[in-house]
Amino acid sequence: MSVLSGKKIILGISGGIAAYKTASFVRLLIKAGAQVQVIMSPASCDFITPLTLATLSKRPVYTQFEKDFGEWTNHVELGLWADLMIMAPATANTLAKMANGLCDNLLLATYLSAKCPVFFAPAMDLDMFAHPSTTENTRKLKSYGNIEIESAYGELASGLIGQGRMAEPEDILQTITDFFNNQSTLDLKGKKVVITAGPTYEPIDPVRFIGNHSTGKMGFDIANEAAKRGAEVVLITGPTYLKSINSSVKVVSVSTANQMYKQCHELFSSAHIVIGAAAVADYRPKVVADQKIKKNDEEFTIVLEKNPDILASLGEIKAHQFLVGFALETENEIEYAKNKLKKKNLDLIVLNSLNDTGAGFGKPTNKVTFIDNDFNVFPQELKSKEAVAKDIIDQIVKSYAK
Ligand code: C5P
Repeated sequence: MSVLSGKKIILGISGGIAAYKTASFVRLLIKAGAQVQVIMSPASCDFITPLTLATLSKRPVYTQFEKDFGEWTNHVELGLWADLMIMAPATANTLAKMANGLCDNLLLATYLSAKCPVFFAPAMDLDMFAHPSTTENTRKLKSYGNIEIESAYGELASGLIGQGRMAEPEDILQTITDFFNNQSTLDLKGKKVVITAGPTYEPIDPVRFIGNHSTGKMGFDIANEAAKRGAEVVLITGPTYLKSINSSVKVVSVSTANQMYKQCHELFSSAHIVIGAAAVADYRPKVVADQKIKKNDEEFTIVLEKNPDILASLGEIKAHQFLVGFALETENEIEYAKNKLKKKNLDLIVLNSLNDTGAGFGKPTNKVTFIDNDFNVFPQELKSKEAVAKDIIDQIVKSYAK
């Protein structure tokens, strides 16, 4: 289902040739499930008829304060009704009036009354577009918080080629879809999320270590998703080649399990959600040689000692925090994962099964099952790790809300 489903959208049309494209734009909006109220400037009726748009939008179209239906059209009510208003095409004249508070038709009065986000898609000939007054009006409109959907470079109605073509209906639709998607998913705003990622390296000597194949990708994707959704994110990561991380994420680089443990405990009291996506080494060499170990003997033994279980230690001191762990199992997966959830005092566990093709270390995809602390089991489809990250955050938000 489109995020536009049920959204109330005012489409404001002003008088330029690009107005003919609004017919297909209205169709796209209606197909996506939006409610569309078209308001036209009087001049735009020379380019496309209100009847066409009323038929496509399935609603009466307003063009004037009165006359249309013999009654007063309340621009203030319209301005309050809408979830979003979009001026497309926005001609040089309408842009200038919007930028300066002029209000000589119903469309402009509605714009001035609108409480919702307003987008505008400029459309005009290239010289009008390039004129300093248009540039200044556009700047002013943006400074008021209106959002420009930039015009494209290409052939114009005049036959000239340049900047000023109204963005295509599909592109305008995409822009507002993205807008609603981002808006509706700031559900982690005000939350601090701490995520562990990657492998740990447990030194044997100055040049060797015990590590594993974790790339850190799942944890990085979760960090990006949480940041996108408004969280303050700290990513505590073991050694990784990954670089692509949202600039708002604070990255703390560690190497060993003990270092990761220390960082997690320092951040724990201020965290709301902790997600342990790291592949922490269970054991570390008991003694770390000062110098590179020589290959003298036929056999060589390394004595290992247990690393702390970071998540379990956080589970022991947990107060308000929501704790999420991962489980990678090869048999009796659900059973083992449930036990782990209980033993580590987690709120949610994300189970990866090595039996699923496409899941696990180094793969771009993952197939997971969520188990919440009521032991409800939610199997998921095989998806890209980015999509799995989104599902994980969705599930956390759902469970956290409970
Ligand atoms: O017990 P197991 O290693 O299967 O548990 C996996 C989960 O516990 C993962 O979420 C992992 O990040 C976390 N873990 C940890 N510290 C360890 C071992 C695992 O936080 N020493």
